[in-house]
Amino acid sequence: MDVVILAAGQGKRMRSSLPKVLHPLAGRPLLAHVIAAARALRPERICVVYGHGGEAVRAAFPEEGLLWAKQEPQLGTGHAVAQALPELARAGGARAQVLVLYGDVPLIRPVTLQRLAKLAGDDGLALLTAHVADPRGYGRIVRQHGKVLRIVEEKDASDEERAIAEINTGILMAPAAALGRWLPRLSNANAQGEYYLTDIVALAVGEGMPVATAHPDHAWETDGVNDKAQLARLERIFQRELAEALLRDGVTLADPARIDIRGELVCGRDVFIDVNCVFEGKVEIGEGSRILANCVIQDAVIGPRCVIGPFARIRPGTRLAQDVHVGNFVEVKNSTLGAHTKANHLAYLGDATIGSNVNVGAGTITCNYDGANKHRTVIEDDAFIGSDTQLVAPVTVGRGATLGAGTTLTRDAPAGQLTLSRAKQVTVPGWKRPVKQKQG
Ligand code: UD1
Ligand code: CA
Repeated sequence: MDVVILAAGQGKRMRSSLPKVLHPLAGRPLLAHVIAAARALRPERICVVYGHGGEAVRAAFPEEGLLWAKQEPQLGTGHAVAQALPELARAGGARAQVLVLYGDVPLIRPVTLQRLAKLAGDDGLALLTAHVADPRGYGRIVRQHGKVLRIVEEKDASDEERAIAEINTGILMAPAAALGRWLPRLSNANAQGEYYLTDIVALAVGEGMPVATAHPDHAWETDGVNDKAQLARLERIFQRELAEALLRDGVTLADPARIDIRGELVCGRDVFIDVNCVFEGKVEIGEGSRILANCVIQDAVIGPRCVIGPFARIRPGTRLAQDVHVGNFVEVKNSTLGAHTKANHLAYLGDATIGSNVNVGAGTITCNYDGANKHRTVIEDDAFIGSDTQLVAPVTVGRGATLGAGTTLTRDAPAGQLTLSRAKQVTVPGWKRPVKQKQG
């Protein structure tokens, strides 16, 4: 099987300089969702039909082994598929079935596509259709005695046809050989002056080929994105699905409507996530950990029984062992924190290797960046970092060392001892506060 993804539309209604299929849903471009759904079917080839702003689209998917077909100008969906067939053939394909997807229909589920593929078999034509309350704007499925006859576009339809509630989602599967016969025969003598892919249905029926129809389980699977409102709606639907999957897995969510997952979130047993947390990239959370309100966590591994937040920011490359506490207004980046270590308030821990049972006081900052290079801070087990300490990396705090509050550490602190850098405290005897002088 080969897949053709139609993505040449301009997306004017997005009112954006970014091509429509590059707009993110759950942190990934719309087109990435469609490619992922296609890949789940293990097709031999995937060809993306691109047009307006297309070079940016190609550049966004550099290493994915995709075929690209340029469609310029855009003369309709039939014309778009016709641009892809030679590209597929050049790559040794276009011999078996071709699945047509839309680059701006991101939530299509592989299980639905599998159902469609099964119906189409090795050499049949199958359409994904849906019965909807408001069919306006869609192509309608015209049947006679229950059998599909043709598809009529809204703008070409009679009043009677417009009353049909079964619509064409646009997704279909057709044999490449048949497409090779049908596409050159399409005409653009219609209301929109376009070469409609949908006209292949009447050609198939004319050849006596049966037309099968499958349906998605959810209406949102075939909803397209044409503007920001539709994008926002699909984002919410997608997030709700992810939240429900977490609940099914036993994760406790304070409010399933107030979590955002832009990537992959893997949770152990008895994880609790409070409201307004954002997860980006790949995040793992160990058994019994609690993520309190308003945290942003990206590409990190959080061990068992940790407490994160409220208002913590965990950035890429962070690994927390068991029973670690990272509290409010603490940012951790590219750092390892050992078991039972605590940084409970107002700290920046970047490029640090921190052992177990370490206490990081409020206001502690690793000065990891000298303006040109990043350096590591090492804090060994059982160290105590006094509040408002700056650790000027590269620097090491030895095992069991204590740093006095307010220390600016520029050299290593030896194990087991108190190290502090602090201007001597003085009291000026007899000093008086200045008083405001009378003018004139
Ligand atoms: C199309 C279908 C219609 C269906 C509807 C579902 C046709 C003629 N009509 O209509 O039956 O109900 O989708 O949303 O197929 N595209 C290209 N090149 C083109 C034209 C379109 O790549 O020359 C791409 C678009 O980027 C989009 C998809 O094809 O992803 C559908 O195009 P669109 O213009 O939205 O089709 P509709 O008129 O909505
Ligand atoms: Ca459309």
